Amino acid sequence: MELSLRVTGLRVSFHGRTAVEDASLDLPRTGVTVLLGRSGSGKTTFLRALNRLNECFPGCETSGSIVLYPCGAPVSPAEPGTGCDVLGPHAPPLTELRRRVGMVFQTPNVLPMSIRRNLLLPLELVRGRLDGAEARMRAALADVGLWDDVRQRLDRPAAQLSGGQQQRLCLARMLILEPDVLLLDEPTASLDAATTQDIERLVRRLAAARPVLMVSHSLGQAARMADRVVIFADGRPQREFTPAELGGDAGREALMQALL
Ligand SMILES: Nc1ncnc2c1ncn2[C@@H]1O[C@H](COP(=O)(O)OP(=O)(O)OP(=O)(O)O)[C@@H](O)[C@H]1O
Ligand SMILES: [Mg+2]
Repeated sequence: MELSLRVTGLRVSFHGRTAVEDASLDLPRTGVTVLLGRSGSGKTTFLRALNRLNECFPGCETSGSIVLYPCGAPVSPAEPGTGCDVLGPHAPPLTELRRRVGMVFQTPNVLPMSIRRNLLLPLELVRGRLDGAEARMRAALADVGLWDDVRQRLDRPAAQLSGGQQQRLCLARMLILEPDVLLLDEPTASLDAATTQDIERLVRRLAAARPVLMVSHSLGQAARMADRVVIFADGRPQREFTPAELGGDAGREALMQALL
């Protein structure tokens, strides 16, 4: 299997309390991997470790290895095609890492500025230039099905959008940076059924060309979306199932044990 990411022996603690322990997971180049697990089992912490977002929190320590493929020379001396450890000495710079490994959270976190600036500011910060930015903005908004809703009000505050529209804007803000890996932490948790369906379709489409690692609390969503389901418990991925296996007796039993 060609990999996009290999996590080995990952441990994350906050003020000495372990949240993720001895966690290992391989992500292929495409497809949706859904993480299912109890509240507090460490799923969000695991996702945030992958682009080093946990470092924003005081008292956080991370160890193990998270290898991103390919390394993306010239940021590292490694040969193209080989991976680089994002926790190691040849890690990509943080802005590059966070561009390549994009994340969308359970609650939309739009920036307190216009819809347009929400998309152009990250581009400016990460790419350092704005050539072709309007076209990219339009494409990203169209990708998430938001262009028609917002084309007349691009300069109005993003906070005035509905929750579902804000979540789609957050997805667009990630997509405009052309990430290699998508991390989605319960991306439809705050959305209605129709918007959830739109986002699920969008994510399936995106996953044809890049890997998606997604946390969900919905078995139905996992069944609809996943190429593989990973049961996450006690701070680490524990077992893996195909959606078909999950529907069988062994899968149901494993789910019961892990989730109830
Ligand atoms: N910034 C932080 N500072 C201190 N402890 C944290 C921090 N973030 C997470 N933790 C702790 O790490 C553990 C795992 O939390 P995490 O948010 O990863 O769980 P989760 O599986 O995503 O849960 P949920 O399904 O409820 O979202 C919890 O005990 C939590 O209190
Ligand atoms: Mg969580």
